[in-house]
Amino acid sequence: MAPQHPWWQTAVVYQVYIRSFADGNGDGIGDIRGLRARVGYLGALGVDAIWINPWYPSPMADAGYDVADYRDIEPAYGTLTEAQDLIDAAHAVGIRVILDIVPNHTSDRHAWFEAALAGDPAARDRYHVRPGRGANGELPPNDWQSVFGGPAWTRITDGPLQGQWYLHLFAPGQPDLNWENPEVRAEFEDILAFWFDRGVDGFRIDVAHGLVKAEGLPDGAQADAPQAMLQVEAQHPAWDQDGVHDIYRGWRSVAQRYTPERIFIAEAWVSSNERLARYLRPDELHTAFQFDFLRSPWRAANLRGVIDDAITSAASVGAPPTWVLSNHDVTRTVTRFSRSQPDHLVETDWERGRWSGEEPDHELGRRRARAAALVQLALPGTAYVYQGEELGLEEIEDLPDDVRQDPTWAQSGFTDVGRDGCRIPLPWNESEPTYGFADGPDAVTWLPQPGHWAEHSVEAQERDPDSMLHLYRAALKLRPSLWRDAGEVTWLDVAAEVAAFDRGGAQCWVNTGTADVTLPAGASVVLASSPGVDGVLPGDTAVWLQT
Ligand code: GLC
Ligand code: CA
Repeated sequence: MAPQHPWWQTAVVYQVYIRSFADGNGDGIGDIRGLRARVGYLGALGVDAIWINPWYPSPMADAGYDVADYRDIEPAYGTLTEAQDLIDAAHAVGIRVILDIVPNHTSDRHAWFEAALAGDPAARDRYHVRPGRGANGELPPNDWQSVFGGPAWTRITDGPLQGQWYLHLFAPGQPDLNWENPEVRAEFEDILAFWFDRGVDGFRIDVAHGLVKAEGLPDGAQADAPQAMLQVEAQHPAWDQDGVHDIYRGWRSVAQRYTPERIFIAEAWVSSNERLARYLRPDELHTAFQFDFLRSPWRAANLRGVIDDAITSAASVGAPPTWVLSNHDVTRTVTRFSRSQPDHLVETDWERGRWSGEEPDHELGRRRARAAALVQLALPGTAYVYQGEELGLEEIEDLPDDVRQDPTWAQSGFTDVGRDGCRIPLPWNESEPTYGFADGPDAVTWLPQPGHWAEHSVEAQERDPDSMLHLYRAALKLRPSLWRDAGEVTWLDVAAEVAAFDRGGAQCWVNTGTADVTLPAGASVVLASSPGVDGVLPGDTAVWLQT
């Protein structure tokens, strides 16, 4: 059955965190060769596209989000030739390839920043370099805080710019670019074309709401520090400035030079879905992550609210809604659902598992995560699956402090454990030491894997027809015929703890409570998140029905 929409409006996109996906050369770090060898796995899973986290040369101050050269490949990950081969291999099995572009900041080892530090005034103007405040310029130019903690400014200690400060909304190794500078704009349009020419189908835009800062870089008041980036209430002169939209109009015209048109997905943490919709106007970006779904507690009423809101606001600008349960920045879904649930949307601090000291119940979390996946995949629009979600992996919350790599840990003064716990290398088979992540008996993974992941490995789940992996495969196989071109979401009023919707014949029901709920007589269960559903829908379970 031919799809009725362009692919990107209904796609299931699998997020490849390349460092932790699969290692092809035994050094314990995931790479392109490892990914290339698993393209068949992704094809069998049934995804439409992959989004690969940054794979460019990087000093890894922030896991590759500090890019030293946008037109090359990080040597630990491979070569440009291997990248081309990967793109072609994915295309050969019908999988589109989306890369991650990081335009808000470069690495401090990017040639531009090195030239700026060496005193080249043209290069300096591509960044935000300012004298400090105070009698001797000893105070930062404004009060902005880094998202990772501490001031968003670092003082330059030697060379021609000694004593001046540069802006970095993230790590000190990630100086912010000055998007008022036309050279910056031209450079990025050229980088987009570089990859589009190689067949890349689109870009996920990192921190898409941050590029343009309020004129004069005014104080933002500590209470609303940029640190609050992931909190939707945040209103700050560093974020979501109106001038940013002009940049994306330019990017859209680059994408339109290609056939088929290349696409963009924005990572933009803004104060409302209405603000987000502004990024999706017809001459701007195609889609944007709507993150309220991953902030929703496991409660039918909240789920229903965020789903309605996402659909309505995307529709207001003619864009498809997007559904994300987790990614490389937040606590894994299983763990988020493995503790008692609040009655409001969660903040990321809460998500990092430190909110209550309550022990996680991973079996409960896994049961809910399975149900959540069926809800996600039944909705209109595009769905993102973060690697390991299809295996039901949990957050690793007890990493030893001395192995932590996320800059958040040090920059927060060792108070925020950061995001390493959702970035653990994947378990492919049951054999230790690396569960097949890396070849060789001596391989050591870049972050340690927990002792019990053999049972969650791909190999173990292949054998178990009730595994999470089989559930994802079944759901992705059914999705095109059942949901891809189905009608709008119409809610059915069943019970307070049940969110149930009809899309023109096919229905999805989820029970977030504990009491059994009777399913409609005559409806057939096409797929259930827990085994043994018959006539009644148990708690923490979802079903797909054909009526
Ligand atoms: C985005 C990325 C995150 C990164 C940050 C800075 O939020 O998803 O991983 O640390 O941008 O580039
Ligand atoms: Ca490797």
